[in-house]
Amino acid sequence: MNTLLPGCALRNRRLHLGVCGSAAAYKAVEVMRMLQRSGVSVGVCLTEAAQRFISPLTFAALEASPVYTRFFADDEGVFAHLEPGGCAHAMLIAPAGAATLARLAGGSADTLLAAQALAFDGPLLLAPAMNPRMWAHPATRRNMEILLERGARCIRPADGRAACGDTGEGKLAPVPEIVFAAAAALLPQDWAGRRVLLTLGPTRERWDDVRYWSNPSTGRMGAALACAAALRGAAVSAVAGPGVPALPAPVRRIDVVSAEDMLAAALEVWPHADTGIFAAAVADFAPTPYGAGKFKKSGAASLSVDFTRNPDILGELGKLARPEQKILGFAAESENLEANARGKLRAKKMHLTAANLLGRPDSGFGGDKNTLYVVDCRGREEHWQAMSKADAAWRLLDWLSTL
Ligand code: C5P
Repeated sequence: MNTLLPGCALRNRRLHLGVCGSAAAYKAVEVMRMLQRSGVSVGVCLTEAAQRFISPLTFAALEASPVYTRFFADDEGVFAHLEPGGCAHAMLIAPAGAATLARLAGGSADTLLAAQALAFDGPLLLAPAMNPRMWAHPATRRNMEILLERGARCIRPADGRAACGDTGEGKLAPVPEIVFAAAAALLPQDWAGRRVLLTLGPTRERWDDVRYWSNPSTGRMGAALACAAALRGAAVSAVAGPGVPALPAPVRRIDVVSAEDMLAAALEVWPHADTGIFAAAVADFAPTPYGAGKFKKSGAASLSVDFTRNPDILGELGKLARPEQKILGFAAESENLEANARGKLRAKKMHLTAANLLGRPDSGFGGDKNTLYVVDCRGREEHWQAMSKADAAWRLLDWLSTL
């Protein structure tokens, strides 16, 4: 998840993290670390029960500042209950226990964390964790409804076996889900209402039952784009080739194998999308299938395979595009970077093209970084130094927003 978060946008953002008593309290540390690594500064408040599970020192040693533990602590001043409301851009309570949910729903300020929540008027995120019977209880349900009606967001607990041995819904949601929701709460929702079709990863063109033709694309640039668009509030449908890493939970993922599959899936989504992002490394050719079974090498000194041309997915969808549909495409080049990128921009009717030179460090397949030449349909062009794929994705969406 971390390599997908755009540090360029999260730097200088501040989160207030509340931690309640739960066996899952240690996971709050993981959530905090992931956000900190992307540049978010974090203040923490632990309830008394939380301090039975995890020490405030753990958070302090890991650069949380301040770490609140109780009302009127000597080093916390008189207004510790007001401070997060004055400086944090979002508040997350993870894990959120039943007692804290009841306090928040009732508007009670009898713990420091509840008072801080009452005095906080920014986005409030709640990641409940408790025994499944406590979570299912009508009182907890009602408290959660009240909080949702008031605009709080719930990161729904997972189903499974709780620490106490009971099974059911009540486990803290997976850490990446919480981190994603917190990051989204810290970022502008300027793509809310936008519907994005994204292609990413390689395609795999089968030759016999065990062999295929493909390329080394990992789908990381595409995953960063999926994350960036979803973080900004867009509804993203990602058509993913084989081996693409996990995508954030809100992204609708459609797994495909070959270029033909990818085209079919993309054609279904495209009429309902307003933005197309084509980051897939589609195999331009597919071997003519050998047939069923496994080709036997015995006796064969060499092998010739015929290839046929695959569909150009972006090319096909570009032809079908309505005037309001915006297209971002990629170009991986081994020479003449600018001229080839400009040529593809025009030929494939893109609004924005991001091109990289193959064979250079921090450029293209694999790796966490990309070095891009970016050009748009109005003739504006820029050369970007190597930067994380997450930052490049964020900046490409910034640019696309202007077209
Ligand atoms: O391979 P090429 O450099 O032409 O890729 C340019 C753009 O077209 C990329 O965005 C890529 O995802 C897309 N493409 C495609 N289908 C193909 C080949 C490329 O959608 N068969």
